[in-house]
Amino acid sequence: MSKLHYQNEKLFCEETEIKNLTEKYGTPLYVYSKNMIKNKFKTTDEAFSSVDHTICFAMKANSNMEILKLMASMGAGGDVVSGGELYLALKAGIPANKIVYASVGKTDEEIKFGIESGILAFNVESEPELEVVNQIALQMGKKAPVAIRINPNIDVHGHPYISTGKSINKFGIDIDFAFDVFLKAHKMEGINIVGVHCHIGSQILDTEYFAASAKKLFDFVTRLTEAGIEVEHIDIGGGLGVHYPDVIPDYAEEQKGVPPPSELSKKVLEILKPLNKEIIFEPGRSIIGEAAALITKVLYVKRSRDTKFIVVDAGMNDLIRPCLYEAYHQIVPLNKIEGELEKADVVGPICETGDFLAKGRMLPDVKRGDYLAVMTTGAYGYSLACNYNSRPRAAEVWINGENDELIREREKVEDWV
Ligand code: LLP
Repeated sequence: MSKLHYQNEKLFCEETEIKNLTEKYGTPLYVYSKNMIKNKFKTTDEAFSSVDHTICFAMKANSNMEILKLMASMGAGGDVVSGGELYLALKAGIPANKIVYASVGKTDEEIKFGIESGILAFNVESEPELEVVNQIALQMGKKAPVAIRINPNIDVHGHPYISTGKSINKFGIDIDFAFDVFLKAHKMEGINIVGVHCHIGSQILDTEYFAASAKKLFDFVTRLTEAGIEVEHIDIGGGLGVHYPDVIPDYAEEQKGVPPPSELSKKVLEILKPLNKEIIFEPGRSIIGEAAALITKVLYVKRSRDTKFIVVDAGMNDLIRPCLYEAYHQIVPLNKIEGELEKADVVGPICETGDFLAKGRMLPDVKRGDYLAVMTTGAYGYSLACNYNSRPRAAEVWINGENDELIREREKVEDWV
Protein backbone atom coordinates (compact mmCIF):
# COMPACT_ATOMS: atom_id res chain seq x y z
CA MET A 1 0.00 0.00 0.00
CA SER A 2 1.20 3.48 -0.77
CA LYS A 3 2.32 5.29 2.34
CA LEU A 4 0.21 8.24 1.22
CA HIS A 5 -3.40 7.15 1.46
CA TYR A 6 -6.90 8.19 2.52
CA GLN A 7 -8.29 7.19 5.92
CA ASN A 8 -11.86 8.33 6.64
CA GLU A 9 -11.72 10.74 3.67
CA LYS A 10 -8.54 12.41 4.95
CA LEU A 11 -5.11 12.11 3.37
CA PHE A 12 -2.51 10.44 5.57
CA CYS A 13 1.20 9.91 5.23
CA GLU A 14 1.87 6.72 7.19
CA GLU A 15 -0.20 7.22 10.40
CA THR A 16 -0.10 11.01 10.31
CA GLU A 17 -2.91 13.18 9.03
CA ILE A 18 -1.30 15.64 6.65
CA LYS A 19 -3.76 18.47 7.38
CA ASN A 20 -2.30 18.77 10.89
CA LEU A 21 1.12 19.38 9.37
CA THR A 22 -0.13 22.36 7.39
CA GLU A 23 -1.09 24.06 10.64
CA LYS A 24 2.26 23.26 12.21
CA TYR A 25 4.61 24.01 9.31
CA GLY A 26 2.64 26.08 6.79
CA THR A 27 2.60 25.58 3.02
CA PRO A 28 3.99 24.92 0.47
CA LEU A 29 5.32 21.86 2.27
CA TYR A 30 7.06 18.71 1.06
CA VAL A 31 5.93 15.70 3.14
CA TYR A 32 7.95 12.45 2.91
CA SER A 33 7.27 8.95 4.19
CA LYS A 34 10.51 7.90 5.89
CA ASN A 35 9.52 4.24 5.91
CA MET A 36 8.73 4.24 2.23
CA ILE A 37 12.20 5.62 1.47
CA LYS A 38 13.72 2.89 3.64
CA ASN A 39 11.68 0.15 1.98
CA LYS A 40 12.48 1.34 -1.52
CA PHE A 41 16.17 1.37 -0.74
CA LYS A 42 16.04 -2.08 0.85
CA THR A 43 14.21 -3.71 -2.06
CA THR A 44 16.64 -2.14 -4.50
CA ASP A 45 19.65 -3.30 -2.49
CA GLU A 46 18.21 -6.81 -2.12
CA ALA A 47 17.57 -7.02 -5.85
CA PHE A 48 21.32 -7.03 -6.41
CA SER A 49 22.23 -9.23 -3.43
CA SER A 50 23.45 -12.11 -5.60
CA VAL A 51 26.45 -10.05 -6.73
CA ASP A 52 29.04 -7.73 -5.23
CA HIS A 53 27.31 -4.36 -5.63
CA THR A 54 26.85 -0.79 -4.42
CA ILE A 55 23.66 1.23 -4.70
CA CYS A 56 24.83 4.80 -5.29
CA PHE A 57 21.82 7.03 -4.60
CA ALA A 58 21.53 9.69 -7.34
CA MET A 59 21.59 12.78 -5.18
CA LYS A 60 20.31 15.04 -7.94
CA ALA A 61 16.88 13.52 -7.29
CA ASN A 62 16.95 14.69 -3.69
CA SER A 63 19.83 15.99 -1.60
CA ASN A 64 18.11 16.73 1.69
CA MET A 65 20.73 16.18 4.40
CA GLU A 66 18.51 13.98 6.60
CA ILE A 67 17.56 11.82 3.64
CA LEU A 68 21.23 11.48 2.70
CA LYS A 69 22.10 10.51 6.29
CA LEU A 70 19.39 7.86 6.15
CA MET A 71 20.86 6.55 2.89
CA ALA A 72 24.33 6.47 4.45
CA SER A 73 23.01 4.55 7.47
CA MET A 74 21.55 1.90 5.15
CA GLY A 75 24.83 1.42 3.33
CA ALA A 76 24.15 3.50 0.23
CA GLY A 77 26.85 5.11 -1.83
CA GLY A 78 26.29 8.34 -3.72
CA ASP A 79 26.10 9.35 -7.36
CA VAL A 80 27.16 13.00 -7.39
CA VAL A 81 27.35 15.53 -10.20
CA SER A 82 29.00 18.56 -8.60
CA GLY A 83 31.41 19.62 -5.90
CA GLY A 84 28.35 20.70 -3.93
CA GLU A 85 26.82 17.23 -4.02
CA LEU A 86 30.18 15.66 -3.16
CA TYR A 87 30.46 17.95 -0.14
CA LEU A 88 26.94 17.06 1.03
CA ALA A 89 27.48 13.33 0.50
CA LEU A 90 30.62 13.36 2.65
CA LYS A 91 28.93 15.50 5.32
CA ALA A 92 26.05 13.01 5.43
CA GLY A 93 28.50 10.21 6.13
CA ILE A 94 28.49 8.48 2.75
CA PRO A 95 31.96 6.90 2.55
CA ALA A 96 34.14 8.49 -0.15
CA ASN A 97 34.97 5.08 -1.56
CA LYS A 98 31.27 4.60 -2.37
CA ILE A 99 30.92 7.85 -4.32
CA VAL A 100 30.89 8.06 -8.10
CA TYR A 101 31.13 11.44 -9.77
CA ALA A 102 29.57 12.10 -13.21
CA SER A 103 29.12 15.42 -15.05
CA VAL A 104 30.20 16.64 -18.46
CA GLY A 105 31.63 19.82 -16.94
CA LYS A 106 33.76 19.14 -13.86
CA THR A 107 35.90 22.14 -12.95
CA ASP A 108 39.56 21.85 -11.97
CA GLU A 109 38.63 22.60 -8.35
CA GLU A 110 35.96 19.89 -8.37
CA ILE A 111 38.40 17.36 -9.81
CA LYS A 112 40.95 18.21 -7.10
CA PHE A 113 38.26 17.87 -4.45
CA GLY A 114 37.30 14.44 -5.78
CA ILE A 115 40.88 13.21 -5.82
CA GLU A 116 41.61 14.58 -2.33
CA SER A 117 38.43 12.98 -0.97
CA GLY A 118 39.34 9.55 -2.30
CA ILE A 119 36.15 8.91 -4.27
CA LEU A 120 35.47 5.54 -5.90
CA ALA A 121 35.46 6.89 -9.46
CA PHE A 122 35.18 9.89 -11.71
CA ASN A 123 32.76 8.94 -14.44
CA VAL A 124 34.73 10.67 -17.17
CA GLU A 125 32.59 11.98 -20.01
CA SER A 126 35.12 13.14 -22.66
CA GLU A 127 38.70 12.82 -23.81
CA PRO A 128 39.58 16.43 -22.90
CA GLU A 129 38.25 15.80 -19.39
CA LEU A 130 40.37 12.66 -19.13
CA GLU A 131 43.48 14.68 -19.98
CA VAL A 132 42.68 17.31 -17.35
CA VAL A 133 42.00 14.66 -14.69
CA ASN A 134 45.36 13.06 -15.56
CA GLN A 135 47.23 16.41 -15.36
CA ILE A 136 45.65 17.37 -12.04
CA ALA A 137 46.34 13.94 -10.54
CA LEU A 138 49.99 14.15 -11.64
CA GLN A 139 50.33 17.63 -10.12
CA MET A 140 48.97 16.21 -6.88
CA GLY A 141 51.29 13.22 -7.07
CA LYS A 142 48.31 10.88 -7.15
CA LYS A 143 46.41 8.56 -9.44
CA ALA A 144 42.78 9.43 -10.13
CA PRO A 145 40.28 6.54 -10.16
CA VAL A 146 38.40 6.68 -13.45
CA ALA A 147 35.43 4.94 -15.01
CA ILE A 148 34.77 6.04 -18.55
CA ARG A 149 31.15 6.78 -19.36
CA ILE A 150 30.20 5.23 -22.64
CA ASN A 151 27.31 6.56 -24.67
CA PRO A 152 25.69 3.41 -26.11
CA ASN A 153 23.38 5.19 -28.56
CA ILE A 154 20.22 3.62 -27.17
CA ASP A 155 16.91 5.44 -27.63
CA VAL A 156 14.68 4.89 -24.58
CA HIS A 157 11.80 6.83 -26.21
CA GLY A 158 11.25 9.05 -23.18
CA HIS A 159 10.95 12.81 -22.85
CA PRO A 160 13.85 14.31 -24.85
CA TYR A 161 15.06 16.34 -21.86
CA ILE A 162 15.64 13.24 -19.74
CA SER A 163 17.06 10.89 -22.37
CA THR A 164 20.82 10.68 -22.12
CA GLY A 165 21.98 7.60 -24.00
CA LYS A 166 21.74 8.72 -27.63
CA SER A 167 24.68 10.00 -29.63
CA ILE A 168 22.94 13.38 -30.02
CA ASN A 169 23.07 13.78 -26.21
CA LYS A 170 26.03 15.53 -24.60
CA PHE A 171 26.73 12.67 -22.19
CA GLY A 172 29.58 10.16 -22.23
CA ILE A 173 31.88 9.09 -25.03
CA ASP A 174 30.40 7.50 -28.14
CA ILE A 175 30.69 3.74 -27.80
CA ASP A 176 32.49 3.57 -31.13
CA PHE A 177 35.30 5.83 -29.89
CA ALA A 178 35.37 4.86 -26.23
CA PHE A 179 37.62 1.84 -26.67
CA ASP A 180 40.48 3.99 -27.99
CA VAL A 181 39.98 6.38 -25.09
CA PHE A 182 40.36 3.46 -22.67
CA LEU A 183 43.61 2.45 -24.40
CA LYS A 184 44.85 6.00 -24.04
CA ALA A 185 43.77 6.23 -20.40
CA HIS A 186 45.50 2.94 -19.68
CA LYS A 187 48.84 4.53 -20.58
CA MET A 188 48.32 7.67 -18.50
CA GLU A 189 50.43 7.89 -15.35
CA GLY A 190 47.83 9.83 -13.40
CA ILE A 191 44.88 7.56 -14.22
CA ASN A 192 43.80 4.34 -12.59
CA ILE A 193 41.06 2.74 -14.67
CA VAL A 194 38.52 1.23 -12.29
CA GLY A 195 35.30 0.91 -14.23
CA VAL A 196 32.93 1.39 -17.13
CA HIS A 197 29.86 3.59 -16.77
CA CYS A 198 26.67 3.95 -18.79
CA HIS A 199 23.38 5.75 -18.10
CA ILE A 200 20.66 5.81 -20.75
CA GLY A 201 17.97 8.07 -19.31
CA SER A 202 15.33 8.52 -16.65
CA GLN A 203 11.74 7.35 -16.01
CA ILE A 204 12.38 4.18 -18.02
CA LEU A 205 9.58 1.63 -17.60
CA ASP A 206 10.71 -1.07 -20.01
CA THR A 207 13.56 -3.14 -18.58
CA GLU A 208 14.49 -4.28 -22.10
CA TYR A 209 16.34 -0.98 -22.48
CA PHE A 210 18.47 -1.83 -19.45
CA ALA A 211 19.12 -5.26 -20.96
CA ALA A 212 20.16 -3.64 -24.24
CA SER A 213 22.55 -1.38 -22.38
CA ALA A 214 23.90 -4.34 -20.36
CA LYS A 215 24.60 -6.25 -23.59
CA LYS A 216 26.62 -3.35 -24.91
CA LEU A 217 28.48 -3.15 -21.60
CA PHE A 218 29.16 -6.90 -21.69
CA ASP A 219 30.68 -6.72 -25.16
CA PHE A 220 32.67 -3.65 -24.26
CA VAL A 221 34.14 -5.07 -21.06
CA THR A 222 34.96 -8.36 -22.81
CA ARG A 223 36.86 -6.41 -25.44
CA LEU A 224 38.73 -4.47 -22.75
CA THR A 225 39.72 -7.69 -20.98
CA GLU A 226 41.02 -9.12 -24.24
CA ALA A 227 43.14 -5.99 -24.61
CA GLY A 228 44.58 -6.49 -21.13
CA ILE A 229 42.49 -3.80 -19.40
CA GLU A 230 40.74 -5.15 -16.31
CA VAL A 231 38.00 -2.99 -14.79
CA GLU A 232 36.81 -3.57 -11.24
CA HIS A 233 33.22 -2.42 -11.63
CA ILE A 234 30.45 -1.94 -14.15
CA ASP A 235 28.21 1.03 -13.42
CA ILE A 236 24.82 0.55 -15.09
CA GLY A 237 23.55 4.07 -14.23
CA GLY A 238 20.07 4.76 -12.86
CA GLY A 239 16.81 5.55 -14.60
CA LEU A 240 14.17 3.09 -13.39
CA GLY A 241 10.77 4.77 -13.60
CA VAL A 242 7.98 5.12 -11.06
CA HIS A 243 4.20 5.13 -11.25
CA TYR A 244 2.72 8.59 -11.65
CA PRO A 245 -0.86 7.60 -10.85
CA ASP A 246 -3.94 8.72 -12.72
CA VAL A 247 -2.04 9.41 -15.88
CA ILE A 248 -3.29 11.03 -19.04
CA PRO A 249 -5.36 8.38 -20.82
CA ASP A 250 -3.28 7.70 -23.90
CA TYR A 251 -0.23 7.07 -21.75
CA ALA A 252 -1.99 4.87 -19.25
CA GLU A 253 -1.28 1.50 -20.80
CA GLU A 254 2.44 2.07 -20.64
CA GLN A 255 2.30 3.29 -17.07
CA LYS A 256 0.42 0.29 -15.72
CA GLY A 257 3.41 -1.98 -15.44
CA VAL A 258 6.11 -0.26 -13.47
CA PRO A 259 8.83 -2.87 -13.10
CA PRO A 260 10.23 -3.54 -9.62
CA PRO A 261 14.03 -3.31 -9.16
CA SER A 262 14.16 -7.13 -9.04
CA GLU A 263 12.96 -7.29 -12.66
CA LEU A 264 15.66 -4.87 -13.73
CA SER A 265 18.40 -6.69 -11.80
CA LYS A 266 17.29 -10.07 -13.16
CA LYS A 267 17.55 -8.87 -16.75
CA VAL A 268 20.83 -7.06 -16.25
CA LEU A 269 22.57 -9.67 -14.10
CA GLU A 270 21.68 -12.47 -16.51
CA ILE A 271 23.98 -10.68 -18.91
CA LEU A 272 26.64 -9.18 -16.65
CA LYS A 273 27.08 -11.76 -13.88
CA PRO A 274 29.48 -13.98 -15.87
CA LEU A 275 31.95 -11.07 -15.98
CA ASN A 276 32.27 -11.29 -12.20
CA LYS A 277 32.61 -7.55 -11.61
CA GLU A 278 31.15 -5.33 -8.92
CA ILE A 279 27.89 -3.81 -10.14
CA ILE A 280 27.03 -0.20 -9.39
CA PHE A 281 23.45 1.01 -9.77
CA GLU A 282 22.55 4.71 -9.47
CA PRO A 283 18.81 5.02 -8.78
CA GLY A 284 17.28 8.34 -7.82
CA ARG A 285 13.61 8.58 -8.77
CA SER A 286 12.76 4.93 -8.03
CA ILE A 287 13.98 5.33 -4.42
CA ILE A 288 12.47 8.68 -3.51
CA GLY A 289 9.91 9.68 -6.17
CA GLU A 290 6.81 8.06 -4.72
CA ALA A 291 7.71 8.86 -1.11
CA ALA A 292 6.54 12.48 -1.06
CA ALA A 293 3.75 14.90 -1.81
CA LEU A 294 3.90 18.65 -2.15
CA ILE A 295 1.16 20.20 -0.04
CA THR A 296 -0.28 23.49 -1.20
CA LYS A 297 -3.11 25.78 -0.12
CA VAL A 298 -5.83 27.12 -2.40
CA LEU A 299 -5.65 30.91 -2.46
CA TYR A 300 -8.33 31.76 -4.99
CA VAL A 301 -10.65 30.16 -7.49
CA LYS A 302 -11.15 32.38 -10.52
CA ARG A 303 -12.81 31.97 -13.88
CA SER A 304 -12.01 33.45 -17.25
CA ARG A 305 -14.38 33.26 -20.20
CA ASP A 306 -13.44 29.62 -20.82
CA THR A 307 -11.14 28.40 -18.06
CA LYS A 308 -11.42 27.75 -14.36
CA PHE A 309 -8.21 28.48 -12.47
CA ILE A 310 -7.38 27.14 -9.04
CA VAL A 311 -4.67 29.48 -7.77
CA VAL A 312 -2.49 27.81 -5.14
CA ASP A 313 0.46 28.92 -3.02
CA ALA A 314 2.98 26.53 -4.66
CA GLY A 315 4.46 27.56 -7.96
CA MET A 316 6.90 26.46 -10.62
CA ASN A 317 9.72 27.51 -8.29
CA ASP A 318 8.59 24.75 -5.89
CA LEU A 319 7.88 22.12 -8.55
CA ILE A 320 9.06 22.79 -12.08
CA ARG A 321 8.36 19.34 -13.55
CA PRO A 322 4.91 20.11 -15.06
CA CYS A 323 6.28 23.19 -16.81
CA LEU A 324 9.67 21.81 -17.85
CA TYR A 325 8.76 18.26 -18.92
CA GLU A 326 4.98 18.53 -19.24
CA ALA A 327 5.04 16.03 -16.37
CA TYR A 328 1.79 14.74 -14.93
CA HIS A 329 1.42 14.76 -11.16
CA GLN A 330 -1.81 13.59 -9.61
CA ILE A 331 -3.48 16.30 -7.50
CA VAL A 332 -5.87 15.36 -4.70
CA PRO A 333 -7.52 17.31 -1.87
CA LEU A 334 -6.35 16.63 1.69
CA ASN A 335 -9.98 16.25 2.70
CA LYS A 336 -12.04 14.40 0.13
CA ILE A 337 -14.71 16.57 -1.47
CA GLU A 338 -18.00 15.04 -2.67
CA GLY A 339 -19.81 16.09 -5.82
CA GLU A 340 -19.22 16.74 -9.50
CA LEU A 341 -15.75 17.09 -10.95
CA GLU A 342 -14.95 20.05 -13.13
CA LYS A 343 -12.06 20.83 -15.44
CA ALA A 344 -9.57 23.32 -14.04
CA ASP A 345 -6.00 24.55 -14.37
CA VAL A 346 -4.05 24.46 -11.11
CA VAL A 347 -1.71 27.44 -11.26
CA GLY A 348 0.83 29.07 -8.98
CA PRO A 349 1.35 32.72 -8.02
CA ILE A 350 4.35 33.29 -10.31
CA CYS A 351 4.33 35.82 -13.14
CA GLU A 352 4.80 33.28 -15.93
CA THR A 353 2.20 31.58 -18.08
CA GLY A 354 4.26 28.40 -17.63
CA ASP A 355 3.58 28.48 -13.90
CA PHE A 356 1.12 25.63 -13.62
CA LEU A 357 0.95 22.36 -11.70
CA ALA A 358 -1.82 20.89 -13.84
CA LYS A 359 -3.79 21.81 -16.93
CA GLY A 360 -7.35 20.82 -17.75
CA ARG A 361 -7.56 18.56 -14.71
CA MET A 362 -10.87 17.12 -13.50
CA LEU A 363 -11.09 18.22 -9.87
CA PRO A 364 -13.80 18.56 -7.22
CA ASP A 365 -15.21 21.91 -6.17
CA VAL A 366 -12.29 23.21 -4.10
CA LYS A 367 -12.60 26.50 -2.22
CA ARG A 368 -10.24 29.14 -0.86
CA GLY A 369 -8.46 27.69 2.18
CA ASP A 370 -8.65 24.04 1.04
CA TYR A 371 -5.42 22.09 0.74
CA LEU A 372 -4.22 19.99 -2.18
CA ALA A 373 -1.52 17.34 -2.38
CA VAL A 374 0.61 17.16 -5.51
CA MET A 375 1.63 13.52 -5.54
CA THR A 376 4.82 11.64 -6.41
CA THR A 377 7.06 14.64 -5.95
CA GLY A 378 9.90 13.17 -3.88
CA ALA A 379 12.30 13.09 -6.84
CA TYR A 380 13.30 16.24 -8.71
CA GLY A 381 10.81 18.26 -6.67
CA TYR A 382 12.67 20.18 -3.99
CA SER A 383 16.02 19.53 -5.67
CA LEU A 384 14.90 21.54 -8.70
CA ALA A 385 13.26 24.29 -6.63
CA CYS A 386 14.52 27.84 -6.96
CA ASN A 387 13.86 31.34 -5.69
CA TYR A 388 12.25 32.85 -8.79
CA ASN A 389 10.03 35.84 -7.98
CA SER A 390 12.06 36.03 -4.72
CA ARG A 391 10.07 33.18 -3.28
CA PRO A 392 11.69 31.37 -0.35
CA ARG A 393 11.88 27.63 -0.87
CA ALA A 394 9.37 25.35 0.92
CA ALA A 395 9.89 23.44 4.15
CA GLU A 396 10.41 19.67 4.19
CA VAL A 397 9.03 17.26 6.78
CA TRP A 398 9.28 13.52 7.06
CA ILE A 399 6.92 11.13 8.74
CA ASN A 400 7.73 8.04 10.75
CA GLY A 401 4.44 6.43 11.75
CA GLU A 402 2.68 8.98 13.93
CA ASN A 403 5.71 11.24 14.27
CA ASP A 404 6.67 14.15 12.10
CA GLU A 405 10.04 15.84 11.95
CA LEU A 406 11.13 18.98 10.15
CA ILE A 407 14.04 18.04 7.90
CA ARG A 408 14.52 21.41 6.25
CA GLU A 409 13.31 24.76 7.45
CA ARG A 410 11.36 27.03 5.18
CA GLU A 411 13.71 29.63 3.71
CA LYS A 412 13.24 33.20 4.85
CA VAL A 413 13.50 36.19 2.57
CA GLU A 414 15.25 38.07 5.40
CA ASP A 415 18.21 35.68 5.08
CA TRP A 416 19.02 37.13 1.67
CA VAL A 417 19.49 40.68 2.83
N1 LLP B 1 22.90 8.53 -13.02
C1 LLP B 1 23.10 9.52 -13.90
C2 LLP B 1 24.40 9.62 -14.55
C3 LLP B 1 22.07 10.43 -14.18
O1 LLP B 1 22.27 11.39 -15.07
C4 LLP B 1 20.82 10.29 -13.54
C5 LLP B 1 19.73 11.24 -13.80
C6 LLP B 1 20.66 9.25 -12.60
C7 LLP B 1 21.72 8.38 -12.37
C8 LLP B 1 19.39 9.05 -11.83
O2 LLP B 1 18.31 8.79 -12.66
P1 LLP B 1 16.90 8.33 -12.01
O3 LLP B 1 17.10 6.98 -11.37
O4 LLP B 1 16.51 9.35 -11.02
O5 LLP B 1 15.98 8.28 -13.16
N2 LLP B 1 14.87 16.22 -13.68
C9 LLP B 1 14.36 15.14 -14.47
C10 LLP B 1 15.22 13.91 -14.40
C11 LLP B 1 16.65 14.16 -14.79
C12 LLP B 1 17.50 12.95 -14.64
C13 LLP B 1 18.93 13.30 -14.81
N3 LLP B 1 19.84 12.21 -14.62
C14 LLP B 1 12.92 14.86 -14.04
O6 LLP B 1 12.39 15.55 -13.16
O7 LLP B 1 12.26 13.99 -14.61
